[in-house]
Amino acid sequence: MLSEKHENFLKLMVYQIYPRSFQDSNGDGIGDLGGIIQRLDYLKELGVNAIWICPCYKSPNDDNGYDIADYRDIMDEFGTMEDMKRLIAEMHKRDMKVIMDLVPNHTSTQHRWFQESRKGKDNPYSDYYYWVDEPINQWGSLFGGSAWAYDEMRRQYYLHSYAVSQADLNWNNPAVVKEMQAVVDFWVDLGVDGFRCDVIDQIDKDWEGDRNCFGPRLHEFIHALFGREKTKHLFTVGECWCDDLEEVKLHCHSDRHELTTLFQFEHTDVGRIEKFTPAPAKLRQVRDILIRWQNLCQEHELVYSLFTDNHDQAHFISRMEHLPQQRYELATCVATMFYTLRGVPFIYQGQEFGMISPHYASIEDFDDIESKNMYAEMCSSLPASEALERINFGSRDNTRHGMCWDDSEFGGFSTVQPWIKPHSMVKELNLKKDLASDKSVYRFYQKLLRLRSSVDALTLGDVRFLSKEEDNFLITQRSFGQQKIVIVCNFEQAQPIETGLEGARLLLSNYEGRSGDFRPFEIAVYEL
Ligand code: GLC
Ligand code: CA
Repeated sequence: MLSEKHENFLKLMVYQIYPRSFQDSNGDGIGDLGGIIQRLDYLKELGVNAIWICPCYKSPNDDNGYDIADYRDIMDEFGTMEDMKRLIAEMHKRDMKVIMDLVPNHTSTQHRWFQESRKGKDNPYSDYYYWVDEPINQWGSLFGGSAWAYDEMRRQYYLHSYAVSQADLNWNNPAVVKEMQAVVDFWVDLGVDGFRCDVIDQIDKDWEGDRNCFGPRLHEFIHALFGREKTKHLFTVGECWCDDLEEVKLHCHSDRHELTTLFQFEHTDVGRIEKFTPAPAKLRQVRDILIRWQNLCQEHELVYSLFTDNHDQAHFISRMEHLPQQRYELATCVATMFYTLRGVPFIYQGQEFGMISPHYASIEDFDDIESKNMYAEMCSSLPASEALERINFGSRDNTRHGMCWDDSEFGGFSTVQPWIKPHSMVKELNLKKDLASDKSVYRFYQKLLRLRSSVDALTLGDVRFLSKEEDNFLITQRSFGQQKIVIVCNFEQAQPIETGLEGARLLLSNYEGRSGDFRPFEIAVYEL
């Protein structure tokens, strides 16, 4: 049995906002907090009940806010602390939970702690970061190049797992743990309901095992953040590149008061050999990973997180094999497949109306630091045109384009040229057009989320899988007390599927009328 706290978390449905690209409210081409407030009713209408906002703290913005210069202030371009308080109040007024993005692994080198730390070995901030006389290992930065950078002032090297301007904090210094606890408490006092924890697996390093993550004190540090009286009630989701069950149990078991759930990424790797190299991808590969984790999570009383898209990945449906005219069917099939499972659904902005990845003609059209660094690296061994194709495939900018609210030049995201190139298909792919279509992905999402929130079996119910491994479809059964819901998701090919459910009540489908063979990506949700 899950704890009562965790059972309540199963009722969350989270919408992820990338604030820079969501809605510009003051005509400077950059999304902002005022813009989010303007769209809250839209989100309420969609049916979500929580919002995770990517970092909006004071930041020089080298990594779009994941380089924080002040954890207790708001990025100028996004607004003020007053706007933030208003946003929290407006969300709570609508019964929506607020989930902030906590970045505990690193700060911007412009953060006061770093500015002090670099002054020398004898100041109070001296050990807030990892300083060495010479690089002590071969670790690379995830954005390319060495993870060690020389600082002229301190005349030493510091560790940066990401950009040179994102210095890794030294959590083995108890002062750092205290600082980060105080940051969490500051936001809890402001009223936030939870945190998404950026690269949480990296806050302690396994120096001996030569890994820049999963250090021996990792769990102790997470517990220090979220295991306290003041924080135990929070919903917390850790970004964690981990597919080891024992490790997941240590992170998420409700008795341990560390994290509620993790973002695991095994299923997002389907459809690529590595981030920038495409591979053929089929839903059944995704299904097998989901089934494995659903069974494990149920058996071990863990909460799973159900997501496909985020701000670091190309749109999921773009990576799944399908014909262009099947976008609606695929998008709704994927949504059904994921969001009828047991766990916490996360929906990334634009996904709710079937957004796919854009395509750009030049590297100049990209903004993301990772894409630019990787392009430069690739160009040393590949023709520029091939490097560009790989960037187009894997770039994080695939999901960072301005929201396509309508078919105007800048998609209704802004009235002026935005900070990032508008989506290359904004005229054809936007919310306005989707709503006008009789195959509206948005309306389907609405129905699906309503169903999920009104049928206990879909949140609290046990999960079982009735299809077999050799089937090219998925049949999920959720049951809670007397209530039984069966969900059929067909994959690429039309085929007969023996459901034995003729006569059962059909609650949801994505084709007109349900009879005979299941058509490509057809879904049907039945109540028994
Ligand atoms: C996470 C974020 C990503 C960021 C990185 C460094 O992976 O999701 O956007 O660049 O951490 O903070
Ligand atoms: Ca703005």
